[in-house]
Amino acid sequence: MTVVDDIKSRLDIIEVVSRHVTLQRSGRSYKANCPFHEEKTPSFFVFPDRQSWRCFGGCASGGDVFSFVMRAENLEFGEVLRRLSEQTGVALPRRERRDEQQNISRINEDALGYFQRYLASAQGSEARAYLEQRGLNRETIEKFELGLSPPDGESLNNHLLHQGFSAAHLALAGVVRAGEDGRHRDLFRGRLMIPIRNGQGDLSGFGARALGEDEPKYLNTPRTAVFDKGRILYGLHLAKEAAGRDGIVVVEGYMDAIAAHQHGFDNVVACMGTALTEHQVAEIKRLTHRVTMALDPDAAGRQATLGSLENSWRVLQSRVAGKALGTTLFQRQDLPEIRIALLPNGEDPDQLIRRSAQEWTALVEGASPLFDYLLMAISAQVDSTTPQGKARLVELMFPIVAAAPDPIQQDHYFQLLASHVGVTRETLQASVGRPTTAARRSRSVASGQPSATPSAFAKQDRDPVEDYCLAVLLRYPELWEIAEALRPEYFRRMENREIFVRWQQAQLQEIEGPLAPWLKDTIDDELSEHLDSLLERSLPPLESPRRPAAFQDTVGRLEARHLKELKTEEGMRFAEAPPDLLEQEYPEVLELNRRIKEKQGMRNLLEQDLSRRG
Ligand code: UTP
Ligand code: MN
Repeated sequence: MTVVDDIKSRLDIIEVVSRHVTLQRSGRSYKANCPFHEEKTPSFFVFPDRQSWRCFGGCASGGDVFSFVMRAENLEFGEVLRRLSEQTGVALPRRERRDEQQNISRINEDALGYFQRYLASAQGSEARAYLEQRGLNRETIEKFELGLSPPDGESLNNHLLHQGFSAAHLALAGVVRAGEDGRHRDLFRGRLMIPIRNGQGDLSGFGARALGEDEPKYLNTPRTAVFDKGRILYGLHLAKEAAGRDGIVVVEGYMDAIAAHQHGFDNVVACMGTALTEHQVAEIKRLTHRVTMALDPDAAGRQATLGSLENSWRVLQSRVAGKALGTTLFQRQDLPEIRIALLPNGEDPDQLIRRSAQEWTALVEGASPLFDYLLMAISAQVDSTTPQGKARLVELMFPIVAAAPDPIQQDHYFQLLASHVGVTRETLQASVGRPTTAARRSRSVASGQPSATPSAFAKQDRDPVEDYCLAVLLRYPELWEIAEALRPEYFRRMENREIFVRWQQAQLQEIEGPLAPWLKDTIDDELSEHLDSLLERSLPPLESPRRPAAFQDTVGRLEARHLKELKTEEGMRFAEAPPDLLEQEYPEVLELNRRIKEKQGMRNLLEQDLSRRG
């Protein structure tokens, strides 16, 4: 049994779904208004026998308990996997870090020692003067393990080769780069070296600042098997403890974080110049629910910043709902809070802190709640004096309000929005409805709650058709055009669905070069074994002219299977009373019939269905 199956066998989908919506019994299934779209009559069904759910209405999607939690809580597959594994006590086979990762870490550690010694040496005097001029003391330099890279471009390479590392590994670690002549040269030359450790304190890479006016100002380790800028917060391993106690403060730059720590603000981390990613927000959430972001007014005005803030808001909110999943009571004091501190014009945190630590403290303490900030920033984008502008503002703010998981909090935001627009909350409600969300949780499940029924769905470890389809797709990327007919839903196994979704992302992002390494990089550790098995799977020899037709056939089989399943679920939905198709009450039924008709070889199914109805 795979881990996913094992977890599923210990969970009951009815119970999990009931934490988010109030289910009503309907024959052998349960129904509710769909938590994922607005509707008046229930088209969201949960089938305990199959341990699956489906929305027959607007969002026309469905799946198992994993896909439900992913959607309801806005989490990625890997996050749900980890969460549910904790809940059910199923241990994840933590794949040991591959040799490659270990090697890279060792190279980085060795390089770091080298940079530190070089900074302390006679050749480091200029850099030491630079640090002094920037106000950094010896203790800080040691705490942040600052170093210096030699300017010549070959010392580090030679040193590391001498230590026995191979040239290929040095390139993988990102410390050297092949030049046009094919010779390897040090990537960092004559720069102040800032080691970047992840939250656990493992060395992942380096940020390297030019000592003069060289461009770029900072050169960072390229993406490697252990370094991904979007997954790391600079300084987190040093800030963890204080952040858990006092909340966390996020600044933009390395130098800002370093200066903050030197002045005793130990809860500061840096997002390294880019917008906060979901991974980063997720990591923060594990420590604290109190986040203050120090924004420079230039960046704050940018659309990209706004988008990222909205995103952070959403992630943090969904995360709290997630927390409730593990505990029985929703803990109100745990409500997340993001605040925005706008820096004085032309000063970054480093400069401000050095000029006046008090002013910095006041700025952080006086930060405004993100909701207020978004309301202000979004208002500034529309003309809120006109009715159209107000309507637009409401439209933009509504999803933000709806993301709040706690009804009381949500109500508060709704009220704020209403008064900002200058209408009563009743008027606002009449125009847009009530902000209810997936997070509207209720524990009032139908009393006769069935116990988990593991056997029915945990029987199969692998799905040969799905596996084959993915293996072919991964082997022959040129088949992408045919694969456009595939939908994630066609994959019943979550592992496969997830890999397929990543594959689709790769297509969208137009990843250059071979796909396999990119996939391995982006995919969750727990899935990499399965991915490997797909990549290594031996396929029957198939000459290239025959390939498209054969693949088309596989895709067709997956689609047919999916449609058949929809039909089965439809049967369960209408078990009590078959729908009157003439009344056209259920357009989705007609739509499904149309899709089935379109498919060759599926007519029988439909005919059976019709004859059953008589
Ligand atoms: P800043 O330009 O604000 O740098 O960029 P800083 O940290 O304040 O550095 P000083 O004070 O000028 O020495 C903010 C962050 O953006 C990233 C770095 O993480 C930097 O700390 N950045 C900036 C880069 O990665 N590359 C660049 O070329 C510039
Ligand atoms: Mn700066």
